[in-house]
Amino acid sequence: MSATGVNQQSLEMPTANLVAEINRLRRKHDAVVLAHNYQIAEIQDLADYVGDSLGLSQQAARTSAKTIVFCGVHFMAETAAILSPDKKVWIPDLEAGCSLAASIDLDQLLAWKAEHPGAVVVSYVNTTAAVKAESDYCCTSGNALQIVQSIPEDKEILFLPDVFLGSWVQKVTGRKNMHIWMGECHVHAAIPPARIEEKLNEHPAAELLIHPECGCLTPYLDRVVRQNGSSRLKVTSTEGMIRRAQESTAGEFVVATEIGILHRLRKENPAKTFYPIANEMSCQFMKMITLEKLYRSLNEEVFAVTVPDSIARKARKAIERMISIY
Ligand code: 13P
Ligand code: SF4
Repeated sequence: MSATGVNQQSLEMPTANLVAEINRLRRKHDAVVLAHNYQIAEIQDLADYVGDSLGLSQQAARTSAKTIVFCGVHFMAETAAILSPDKKVWIPDLEAGCSLAASIDLDQLLAWKAEHPGAVVVSYVNTTAAVKAESDYCCTSGNALQIVQSIPEDKEILFLPDVFLGSWVQKVTGRKNMHIWMGECHVHAAIPPARIEEKLNEHPAAELLIHPECGCLTPYLDRVVRQNGSSRLKVTSTEGMIRRAQESTAGEFVVATEIGILHRLRKENPAKTFYPIANEMSCQFMKMITLEKLYRSLNEEVFAVTVPDSIARKARKAIERMISIY
């Protein structure tokens, strides 16, 4: 084993052989490979399904495969384990975490709930299983608006953990009685608001695709609202960006999210041009998953992601409530 725990033999294997070995092993284990839109290109290209958090949880819930190998971050693999308790779920690197999911823990949520008895808890999918288990609804960036809109007007809402996603939902729905946790993703929060203007000025014909976790979204949206809207702006999940790029008549797009998504955008829209809002928008956790580690995962049957039954049962309710709405 090397210092990173990856077998020396796999490091020496040419990529084509590595891919062939991965394919052989996934057949052997009856495994489905699920990959998030931020994964490196080589992983996306061999995955059975590539998508956003919502699509990946739906795939995990409906697959008939015996094993799920999750190429994404830990909370996503946990969500798959919650939805598929009878399947084996493996993640190629246990260290693939998420700064946003780490911004609220169970004790913090319990204390927050105690301050607002009777409030409905809506947790973004970027949370641990323990936090989901104490939530009424789960949501993703693809359905957060619909989930909040489905909750009766008179009910107080605790929305967590992303402050920018929460502020966007509040602005669009006009919801007054919604408290928002002050968490953030270090990748999406780092983009200064001025960067949007700079990039749109550089590319005056481009449409702006922006993820609601972006810190630059709130001030930009305020300006758009003051100017009575903008046809150049689309706030959406990663899968929403893929759909929008296909449907839009625009030929150029400024993309404000993690740069891994550019691979799919470019591959599926070869005639269109995509500009990252910032090349440094790279999530080191997503990039921890490599072909070598995927090979090791299948070869050594590691690393199992499991959720204790008592937590999984409660967390599943919040996720299933989400899936039943959207
Ligand atoms: P999506 O659900 O839009 O893919 O977002 C997941 C995520 O982690 C964003 O940083
Ligand atoms: Fe988490 Fe941010 Fe990475 Fe998404 S980009 S997985 S929110 S740290």
